[in-house]
Amino acid sequence: MSLYPGVALITGAASGISQATAVSFAREGCTKLVLADRDEAGLARTQQLIVQVAGEGKAAAIAVKTDVTSAEQVEALFLRAVAEFGRVDYAVNGAGVLSNNKRSHDTTPDEFDRINVINYRGCWLTSRAAIKQMLSQDPLPTHDGRPGVRGSVVNIASQLGIVGRPAAPAYCGSKAAVINMTKCDAIDYSRDAIRINSVCPGVIDTPMTQPNASVLEPAISIAPMERMGTAQEVADCVLFLASSKASFVQGAAMVVDGGYTIN
Ligand SMILES: NC(=O)c1ccc[n+]([C@@H]2O[C@H](COP(=O)([O-])OP(=O)(O)OC[C@H]3O[C@@H](n4cnc5c(N)ncnc54)[C@H](O)[C@@H]3O)[C@@H](O)[C@H]2O)c1
Repeated sequence: MSLYPGVALITGAASGISQATAVSFAREGCTKLVLADRDEAGLARTQQLIVQVAGEGKAAAIAVKTDVTSAEQVEALFLRAVAEFGRVDYAVNGAGVLSNNKRSHDTTPDEFDRINVINYRGCWLTSRAAIKQMLSQDPLPTHDGRPGVRGSVVNIASQLGIVGRPAAPAYCGSKAAVINMTKCDAIDYSRDAIRINSVCPGVIDTPMTQPNASVLEPAISIAPMERMGTAQEVADCVLFLASSKASFVQGAAMVVDGGYTIN
């Protein structure tokens, strides 16, 4: 049996970490995927990549254009997912935007709101919708017969939700919020057999960071491994947390950062 017999729903799936996550689910045997992003062209590319790894007609991956800041669009996304596949087992909330790279006195309220409404409120809206759906469904069987869960949520936070860095208060705050919101939900929904964890990537080579590669040199050198991570390396940790192999992992903030947060 596949480690992923259920339905995966991934936000931010048009690019970077979430795209690699969606493709990895398909590569590892998940055959029902819901891809959400506001970038339709990117979603179509992810669908093509899924066909390449799974084979033509082997995995069903629907693309649903969604702005995660809209409660209505998030609700419509989950209605569509359930209409198509009947349930949602692995919800990965990866849609996000980069820091505005300004100190607080230079940051406008609009800039602060934009970062937080996408990174924090958008993550909460999609996590909340996933939890609501998971509460209504029974656990699936697992790969080795251990007790299953009603669902597993993985929120993409950041190493910058754990530590600070210069000129990023709005971004760091949004990611710290994701980490602690995840912990609270993990406490609240353990009794309902729903697992909720976050992943905290370090500096990862994706379209989000590529235009800023030279600016990122100091950040890269903070990590003892002194390199950027790949989207695949983050996706691997997301897939572990989503799977029944992580059956006793709850409320974790798993760093994938080459050691950035060790000191
Ligand atoms: N790349 C890094 O170094 C890094 C480090 C730590 C955390 N992260 C986090 O990982 C996640 C993915 O980042 P990435 O590097 O893959 O970036 P990316 O820019 O490659 O992908 C982000 C995706 O989110 C989508 N998105 C943005 N706002 C949206 C909205 N309102 N509604 C729907 N979709 C929206 C974008 O269209 C894009 O496809 C983000 O939450 C980011 O903060 C990234």
